[in-house]
Amino acid sequence: MRQKVVVLTGAGISAESGLGTFRDRGGIWSQYDLAEVATPEGFAADPAKVLDFYNARRANLAGAAPHAAHKALAVLGEAVDLTLVTQNIDDLHEQAGSGDVIHMHGELRRSLCAACGARAMAAEVMRVADRCTACNAAALRPDVVWFGEMPYHMERIEDALAEADLFAAIGTSGEVYPAAGFVELARMAGAETVELNLEPSARAGAFQRAILGPASETVPAWVAGLVAGARLGGDV
Ligand code: APR
Repeated sequence: MRQKVVVLTGAGISAESGLGTFRDRGGIWSQYDLAEVATPEGFAADPAKVLDFYNARRANLAGAAPHAAHKALAVLGEAVDLTLVTQNIDDLHEQAGSGDVIHMHGELRRSLCAACGARAMAAEVMRVADRCTACNAAALRPDVVWFGEMPYHMERIEDALAEADLFAAIGTSGEVYPAAGFVELARMAGAETVELNLEPSARAGAFQRAILGPASETVPAWVAGLVAGARLGGDV
């Protein structure tokens, strides 16, 4: 049987692609007020400001490319039974070749109509006056999960964690729940747990093992070990 692996990624995996992390020194939440740009209340108060914040992030993404860590996870998906969950709203996993990426915090390149719930590709530059192609309301927002909103696909993620043999968290500070609690769910299921991060995260104590260093180096090496193990086990 193929090994069941759940990988959770965070902003740290995309840092070396040039996308900012949130809580590192100089990170996004030191430059912007989270309450103003990443909450439903902030959007209600000043939608143009919120759209501009995400427009800037979409522009950054347009100039970014996946690196060795994203690519290694695409290779891992061929070797094991992988559930790839990301908190990231970028699409660098998909660009690296991973299929079926679970975006628990939504996607920067998608829009959501607050009036009718229709989802569509987002314009590179979203404007307050833009209209929904399904219902014509000028009520489009980025299809991202803001603080105070329910992350997407939780049932599917919890089901995968309940069956996991191995859980890995990569490039996430462990400051934001529910993702920061996945390690406990995995341990309750009897999974091995490992964190791959630049430095110990806020949840470091909950993991059995840590591999510290930049994701572009640690993730390919870790994946190579898993793929070799899967081959030895006759799974590939
Ligand atoms: N390689 C590995 N880890 C890295 C690298 C790197 N090159 N660079 C930074 N890191 C680590 C940092 O040490 C930090 O622990 O990545 C982590 C990034 O943490 P955050 O900025 O808090 O990002 P994340 O955990 O993804 O944030 C969770 O918070 O604001 C929200 O919705 C947003 O999805 C996001 C959520």
